[in-house]
Amino acid sequence: MAQETTGQFDSLLEEGRRFAPDPGFRARANFNDEGVYARAAADPEGYWAEQAQELSWFEPFQTVLKWDPPHAEWFVEGKINAAYNAVDRHRKGPRRNKAAIIWEGEPGDQRVLTYDMLGREVDKAAHMLRELGVKKGDRVTLYLPMIPELPIAMLALAKIGAAHSVVFGGFSAKALHERILDAGSTLVITADGGWRRGQVVPLKANTDQAVEGTQVRHVLVVRRVGEAAGARMVPGRDIDWQDMMAAMPTTPVPAEPMDSEALLFILYTSGTTGKPKGIVHTTGGYLVGANTSLRSVFDLKEDDVYWCTADIGWITGHTYVVYGPLTAGGTIVMYEGAPDFPDRDRFWSIVERYGVTILYTAPTSIRTFMKWGPHYPAAHNLDSLRLLGTVGEPINPEAWMWYRTHIGHDRCPIVDTWWQTETGAAMIAPLPGLTVTKPGSATRPLPGVFAEVVDEEGKPVPPGGAGYLTLTRPWPSMLRTIWGDDDRYRRTYWERFPGRYMAGDGAHVDEEGYYWILGRVDDVINVSGHRIGTMEIESALVDHPAVAESAVIGRAHEVKGQAISAFVTLKEGVPIEEELVVQLKQHVVDKIGALARPEEIFFTVELPKTRSGKIMRRLLRDIAEGRALGDTTTLADPAVVEELKRRYEERYEERE
Ligand code: PRX
Repeated sequence: MAQETTGQFDSLLEEGRRFAPDPGFRARANFNDEGVYARAAADPEGYWAEQAQELSWFEPFQTVLKWDPPHAEWFVEGKINAAYNAVDRHRKGPRRNKAAIIWEGEPGDQRVLTYDMLGREVDKAAHMLRELGVKKGDRVTLYLPMIPELPIAMLALAKIGAAHSVVFGGFSAKALHERILDAGSTLVITADGGWRRGQVVPLKANTDQAVEGTQVRHVLVVRRVGEAAGARMVPGRDIDWQDMMAAMPTTPVPAEPMDSEALLFILYTSGTTGKPKGIVHTTGGYLVGANTSLRSVFDLKEDDVYWCTADIGWITGHTYVVYGPLTAGGTIVMYEGAPDFPDRDRFWSIVERYGVTILYTAPTSIRTFMKWGPHYPAAHNLDSLRLLGTVGEPINPEAWMWYRTHIGHDRCPIVDTWWQTETGAAMIAPLPGLTVTKPGSATRPLPGVFAEVVDEEGKPVPPGGAGYLTLTRPWPSMLRTIWGDDDRYRRTYWERFPGRYMAGDGAHVDEEGYYWILGRVDDVINVSGHRIGTMEIESALVDHPAVAESAVIGRAHEVKGQAISAFVTLKEGVPIEEELVVQLKQHVVDKIGALARPEEIFFTVELPKTRSGKIMRRLLRDIAEGRALGDTTTLADPAVVEELKRRYEERYEERE
């Protein structure tokens, strides 16, 4: 991995524009005292202990942090419950009848749940889960569309002390199967289907396939689509969510007082091997990270209407649709479907109709909106907006400026938040009332977070340099381990630079200490803000009977950030046919999901390899991005790559 990264830190940005916080915004901001950084640096544990007071603890913690590298325990001996903090505590005061969730389905149907209504649903669901035999410590897999039943199920599980493993609805049956097995779930909650661009996402049909050969005893099915889904219930195994909920009492279910370090959820993410990692998050620390960043980075106030457009199937949805805003008593908007259904102004229509004040979305969406043109947002009144956020991939300054101009009308601060499934909450991001922003930079680590960019030897690089992004101290919402594979946890994050968390990203720090994230430095690619391991796609490809070998890379792409290019060698005697390209793409979709579909598949008789047999993906990236070939001296046969480059260019000469 190491030798592959050289040369990746070269593309440093030249960006001179800066934007200072508006004095009015600053005056009202939740975090408007610059001293917070210094105080948190002088006493990080004190800072986090203070933030933890914003949550309700059944029993106070005795020790803020126990750090036995690479294992951390936060808020030790504290007892806390996530659902109590996200819902029940708000039912007791003036937030009782405040909208918690404003939901809109893709077809245009709407539901509003106040905190009290949400609490009742969570209680009924908790009764139901108990009746189905779910106990403290169990894991339940959720494979649902963006409908209120998803947060309801998550919160009901948290309430009774069980953990969730949410699998994004875009993953295939096969991917779901692996995740169900790995988590050891005996219950799966799904829906008959979901709506996406007017089409039905076949969640139930995928689940039927996925649970075959697993330990699953029951499948709980939410009716979302109805007849059109064509879902069939399996007697004895499948249970209708609505029917069973209707039979449940509305009596409150007391929230289980959980150890601060009790498992809250597992969320799978891609790594550098073919097998996804089950990232483990526990309760107290995760909630403190999520809740604090809502108040600091998003400046959430009582009357805000906050909309994070991420799917709950990703970490952004866990932290910034569910646990962050709800523990902070916010009103969230949740939308089921696609941004271009029925037309390309759907997001702006939602912002206008509900008076959204805070909008959090991904650079890939912003670039798509840019491509569609400013007349879509211009047709709507976006005056309610006061803060904009981005996450998931590096944002190019041009997209940042477009977001600021056409969505924020030069009035709204932009918070570019760098973080990961593993970090649980934002790590490097502006505080909108304090930080002078620069388009394309996530600015600096948040109070209580400590980052450093280091070179190959693990030595900090001076300002102006670039290298590997590391975090130098534990933080409350950090992952605790990889489910079932603590050794992999240690190796992946802590071995390369002892005592430091290695993020897997490259970063440049400028003379003023601002961080510019350069993207992944490992074999993970980021397509439209979604992380996919190249090895995962390669394993899917070689699983096809025609394929001998494959190498997958991410090629720079104007809208998606990166696009998947696959270089494939076929088995002896297999003829090269265009039909095979279609088949192989479909094979990857079946194995992983549509998000992993290669944009292009290029057949070659040989892949460029080192003398020790390692595929040099760096050279493939050079080819796919039309660059001069980097160092080829370590290649077993330099002619292979020259030939490959020539043929590739021939094929794609018309591409810009
Ligand atoms: O490469 C970084 C990129 O997304 C990766 C984490 O992906 P995931 O765990 O799926 O979480 C995405 C949402 C938190 C990182 O390693 N990334 C995330 N945010 C940014 C980013 N790259 C640049 N700028 C960001 N703001």
